Parts: sequence; C-alpha cells; structure tokens
Amino acid sequence: MGYRKYRRCRSAAVSRIKDDDSIRYSDELIEEIRISNDIVDVVSEYVRLEKKGKNYFGLCPFHREKTPSFSVEAGKQIFYCFGCGRGGNVFHFISLAERLDFTEAVRLLADRAKIQLPESEDPREKKKARIKQQIQDINLIAARFFYEALKSKQGEAATAYLKKRGISDSTARKFGLGYSNDGWDDLYNHLKSHGISEEAMLDSGLVLKGSSGNLYDRFKGRLMFPIFDVRGNVIAFGGRVLDDSLPKYMNSPETALYNKRKHLYALNFAKNHIEGSLIIVEGYLDVISLYQSGIHNVVASLGTALTESQGRLLKKYANEVIIAYDADTAGQAATMRGLELLTDTGCSVRVLSLPEGTDPDDYIKRNGADRFRKLVDNALPLVEYKIKTIKTEHDLSKTKEKIKFLNKAADVLAKVDNAMEREMYIKRLSREYEISEEAILSEVLRRVRPSARQIRRITKVAEPAGKTNSTAAGLKEKIIHGERFVLSLLCVDNSIYNVVKEHFKIGKFIWEENNRIAKILYKRIEEGYGVSPPELMNTVSSDESGIFARILNEECHCDDNEKAILGKIRDIELLKAEMRRDQIIDLLKNKSRLTDDEVDKLESELRELIQEIKRIKEMPEYKMEGRG
Ligand code: GTP
Ligand code: MN
Repeated sequence: MGYRKYRRCRSAAVSRIKDDDSIRYSDELIEEIRISNDIVDVVSEYVRLEKKGKNYFGLCPFHREKTPSFSVEAGKQIFYCFGCGRGGNVFHFISLAERLDFTEAVRLLADRAKIQLPESEDPREKKKARIKQQIQDINLIAARFFYEALKSKQGEAATAYLKKRGISDSTARKFGLGYSNDGWDDLYNHLKSHGISEEAMLDSGLVLKGSSGNLYDRFKGRLMFPIFDVRGNVIAFGGRVLDDSLPKYMNSPETALYNKRKHLYALNFAKNHIEGSLIIVEGYLDVISLYQSGIHNVVASLGTALTESQGRLLKKYANEVIIAYDADTAGQAATMRGLELLTDTGCSVRVLSLPEGTDPDDYIKRNGADRFRKLVDNALPLVEYKIKTIKTEHDLSKTKEKIKFLNKAADVLAKVDNAMEREMYIKRLSREYEISEEAILSEVLRRVRPSARQIRRITKVAEPAGKTNSTAAGLKEKIIHGERFVLSLLCVDNSIYNVVKEHFKIGKFIWEENNRIAKILYKRIEEGYGVSPPELMNTVSSDESGIFARILNEECHCDDNEKAILGKIRDIELLKAEMRRDQIIDLLKNKSRLTDDEVDKLESELRELIQEIKRIKEMPEYKMEGRG
C-alpha cells in the first residue's frame, strides 16, 4: 500500500460509514444501489462473460471448472452457477467475490455507483462515527508522514535496517512502512499544521499528554507498520525499535476505531490469495517476509493470543488455518487455547513445526519459499500435534509414563467428533505402542460425552412433532421448495399477487423464513412499489440465495403464470395433506400412548384427509409435472 494508494483509499473512505453494526439502510436505498449496479457490468469486472441467447455464461469464480456453468441473467439481474449452486443478485456476487458481508457489499456498490450513504440519525452514533472518521483521517496523515520520513535523511537508519532485514523497497511500499522521527513532537506539529484539534490527536492515541499538560508523540525513532482493516483503511500502527532496546514493539492503544482483538494484520492483502487455507504467524515481520517470498495467504494475530472474534474472522475467509508460531512458543498453554478456540469455530487447524529457535522469517530466509511450502504441506492436524506434544512430555520407555501418556492421548481423542477420524488415530496409536485397539477405544469411549449439538439432535428426534420419518422429511422439503417457487414467481409476475395472497396468508408458509420474506414482498406490492427477482434476493439470507437463484433461473419460465401458480398451490395443498396423513398414521401406530378420545379424533381427521387427497388429485387442472 504505497503513497498513491493511500489517496485512493481516502477518497473512497469519505463516503463510507465505518461502524459495521450501527446502521441499517432502508430497502429503498438498497434497491437504488442495486439498480445503479448492473449485474452484467459488475460481474464482467471479475469474469469473462459470453452472451448466449438471453443469458451470459462464463467460468465460475467460486469453484474450479473447465467448462462454463456460471450464468448471469440480465433480465432478472441474477447470477447462478449450475456447478456449485451459488447464486443471488449483485450484492451476493460482490460479497462472495470480495468476501464481504451483505452490508459491506452494499457499501462497496454504493461507492461504485457514487451513491452517498446516510449517517445514522442517533446523535450518539453520529458522534461515534465522527470520531472514528477523524481517527482514520489522522492515521492516514500520519501514515504518509511516516512514509515520507522513511524516505528522508532522518529515515536513513530505518532504511538501512530494512535492508539488513532483507526487505525490498517495493515490499516496504506495499505494506506502507514508515519511520517515526526521533524527536518529541514531529508528528504533533505535523498534525497541527493540518488543522487537527488536540482532542482528536489524543483520541487517535498517536499523541500523548505529559504530566505538565504538554503533548508529545507516542512513536519516536521507530520503524512504523500501519495496521489496515479488511478494506485497507489504516486503523492503527505498530512501531519497532531499530536496535535491541526495549520495548521492542509499541502499538497504538485501543481507540474508537481499533480493537486489536478483532483484527488480523495483513488480512486485507491475504484475503485475495486464500485458496482454502490461511497461515497465521506471530509477527509483522514474519508476514512481510513471507509475502515478499511469494507466500501471500499469511496474517498475524496482533500480539495477543487468538480471540474468538479473530476465530470468526478466520472462519469467514478460510476453511483451514495453519498455525506457524515461533517454535518455542507453540507449546504454550495460551497458544493451545487459541487452537481449541479455532476448532470450536469450525475451522480445521493444522500446526506447522519450525526448527527450534526459528521463526517463519528466519526459516524462509535461510531455506527459501519451496522448503517453507513443504513445511505447510506437512503441518500436522491439531489432534496429531497434541498427541505429539504429549509424547515429548513423557519418557515412554517407562511403563508408568507410557500409561500416563495413553491416558492423556485418550483425553484428546475423546474430543474428536468424527468417529472415522477417531478410529484412524486409534489404529495408529495401537500400532505405534503395541496396545490393542480395543483397549484404547474403551479408554476413549469412557471419556466421550455427547456434545451439546448431539444432545440437541437427540431431543429433537424425540419430540412428538418431530417424529418425522424420512418420507415426511422429504414431503416437508418439497413443500418448502414449492413455497419458494411461489415467492419467486410472484416476483417475476406481480399480477398473480391476489391469488398468492389468498392461499398464503402470512404465517401460512411452513418455513418461517418464507413467512418473513413474504411479509416484506406483500408490503412492497401493497404500497405500490412492486417487487422484482433481484429485489427478492435482497430479502433472502445468503445461505438461501443460491436456492432462489436456481428456482428463478430454471423454473420461472411459464407461459401462463396464473395457471402455473394455481398448479403449484394445489401441489402444496396435496403435499401438506399427505404429510399430515403420514403423521397421523405414525401416531396411530402407538395407540397405547393415546386416549380413546384422541384416537377417535385422529381417525376421523385421517378419513377426511384421505377424501381431501382424492379430491385434490381429481381436480381437472391438477398437473402431475414437477412432482416426483
Ligand atoms: P522481529 O523480532 O524483528 O523479527 O519482529 P517480529 O515481528 O518477528 O516480532 P516477534 O516475533 O518478536 O513478536 C511477535 C509479535 O508480538 C510482534 O509482531 C508484535 O505484534 C508483538 N510484540 C513483540 N514484542 C512486543 C513488545 O515488546 N510489546 C508489544 N506490545 N508487542 C510486542
Ligand atoms: Mn521475527
């Protein structure tokens, strides 16, 4: 991130509101932003599209493929991939392509279309947003000031230090490195000349107040590392001494803008190079050194043990996390806890082993990127790493120690959810230590407690209402699908609204999510705005956008929409009746649990249902297609 790029960042930053949670944009505004970003134009910035008939096709950017199965429909303003099932409108596309959440994607596309986003009306929120913006402005001015200082005469020692560490000019520019002059108030004076108030300087944490009330710079004579957020804004700084003096590093304090527990250094660069896994190292210089050697999927935790927020952040960007901490600290309990935490968030974790006393920076300098990549390939899954660590703590030539080791290993294995994986480790342990698999397994099983998730699953199955056999589950799935089709077709053709509303009052959809979506769509139509397929997409969750895109893409091409919707409504009524029928049959299988009165009621309902099913099936308009 060099000097020129800073400027670009800034102009983009001015129209943005930084606080992720404080603002919800109105549906109208979101629609305006969507309409101002044609999906074919936007996608074309990422994918080479070719027009075939009405639609555009290209290679899917979200999974590997050789023949195009990714389509963009200009008319409906949606995309859908037949290969991986991802789909949605322009917001979903951007959130997948840029790895942003929905609101962040809205902001990015607002920027692209030069649409000004409103600030929150709440005065406290407004003040907070203003302070954050101010800190960000100050950070930007400071980053440029440090950058210039590094190039100046005063920065010669820092430049020499970078050279000694093997960091090239272009890498230094990429990471926006700088130097804080060894004076008392160089930055303070510079900020003042930019008209920054003293209060704002103090808010930024870059300037401190002495006991006599005088203001002075926090960073003096240090190599400066700007810390960026995911979007590339400077949110804080780290500063390293140029010699062996202490403290080695100083960092910006927590500010309204910066919380070190919520960020990962260099994620803004790494997120575009992830390819499945992300390497976490400890130090700024480890990241920079690896990056320079061509390994770009690297981030650093900001001098803390990994936190839950960082875990979630990692999970959002990568399926697999590879920990490459310095050899001597990896065994520490704090690190171990960080690893547990990552596993809990659902990341798969592997641990890379470095030779004693080296960090990734040392290693790659001595051995090169290819050898480092080998270490990445050989990184151990967390379980194996733990067992290996336990092994080193016991002298296995002594029987007593060996038993202790096996007990601890069983503790670890008991936490492995996946039975197949567990079995594999047990086999391996058994072979290695000549203990029968049964003996290890019984030790492991003794420790296994059902997880919270498993307990939930078990109790769910036991609920009478959830006593669904597999055909009931299949029927339910079909009904939900039918409901989604109804909502989709309604957006293609608003004129069927009256029919839809008559049969599907809010609350009548069996899938709660569909009730929520219907409520929004009905309101829009009744207020006279109308709804369109991409607008439907604004309302669905990102988990379901692919499903709706597929329905819109493949199913909503009817010659007569009213006939199609009536047919579908009948399908759904039939499915619901069949589902209830199956439920009752199930309940009646256990008559001993029911009172006579209940049995009578169920039996009469069943007779009615059978009549009803017959009636629906005999309707002249009823079409068999679409039902299996
Ligand atoms: P070099 O030692 O120059 O290779 O730097 P490094 O980035 O590899 O640092 P190191 O491995 O020693 O430390 C890892 C990270 O911990 C650093 O990048 C800092 O974020 C943090 N850290 C290290 N020392 C200090 C310190 O003295 N104070 C604070 N606040 N953080 C530190
Ligand atoms: Mn280091």
